[in-house]
Amino acid sequence: MTLGALAVTGNASKRAGAGVPLGNTVPMPYDGYLGAGVDTLDYFEALLGDPSSGLDLPAAVIVEPIQAEGGVNVARAEWLTRLAALAQRHGILLIADEIQVGCGRTGPFFCFESAGLRPDLVVLSKSISGLGLPMALVLIRPDLDIWKPGEHNGTFRGNNLAFVAGAAALAYWEDDSLTRDVQAKGERVCERLGRIAAVHPETAVEVRGRGLIQGLAFRSGEDATKVARAAFERGLIIETAGPRDQVLKVLPPLLIEPADLDAGLDIVEESAAAVLAGAVEALA
Ligand SMILES: Cc1ncc(COP(=O)(O)O)c(C=O)c1O
Repeated sequence: MTLGALAVTGNASKRAGAGVPLGNTVPMPYDGYLGAGVDTLDYFEALLGDPSSGLDLPAAVIVEPIQAEGGVNVARAEWLTRLAALAQRHGILLIADEIQVGCGRTGPFFCFESAGLRPDLVVLSKSISGLGLPMALVLIRPDLDIWKPGEHNGTFRGNNLAFVAGAAALAYWEDDSLTRDVQAKGERVCERLGRIAAVHPETAVEVRGRGLIQGLAFRSGEDATKVARAAFERGLIIETAGPRDQVLKVLPPLLIEPADLDAGLDIVEESAAAVLAGAVEALA
């Protein structure tokens, strides 16, 4: 979670990509950062409650309901609702960053729906155009929207094809069939990654995620990267995420055919078997 703007990722290499210091923001520990027994919001709440804590009252808190580049870290619903209540109590706006996990990625249109949040602002891009065309949206609670029409503009804003595709993609939300489909495919991915983790218990730690964002966490970034490279050699592009690149992130298209999904997961399985078995032989 971040207070203020700009530094919206738990991944240091992505923050470094800005090329400038990311000022006016204060990063706060995400859910689970200090281990299972610690609610990191105790720290935030203490800072907010103490006028001499050094933390000036922030205008807004921006949070990813599931940290994507940060390593597929899933915040608990209780943590998110406590954050929302804390923000409301102190008059801080809540911004949900749904750029990677919104637009149905986890099942429902917004990822935060599962925690019952009502953020003041929501940022969306990636799948919002339906086709991966350039498009981004900021949803603003109407009473907070002080922009005049066209005030926030730019040469590449308003890509007409993306607008048409985005409007057409809304048809997927006329019923809950896409939501159910994504959830079912997500369970399939989770199950298959779980099997890979079970075969490589020394190197793979856990499977985490929701819907069609699932991560296979390894002990080392080296292992996750080796598996990703081996998958690339076999024709599959798969990313790593997390502060040490230690999480293999499965993020297929929402409309992927089940057979294609299985074919991709076969490649992940074969790649893990190839490079992780190699590592065991090298140790022997
Ligand atoms: C969670 C999250 N927020 C923000 C961004 C940046 O999005 P954009 O490239 O649309 O500015 C990304 C990009 O991956 C992201 O994953």
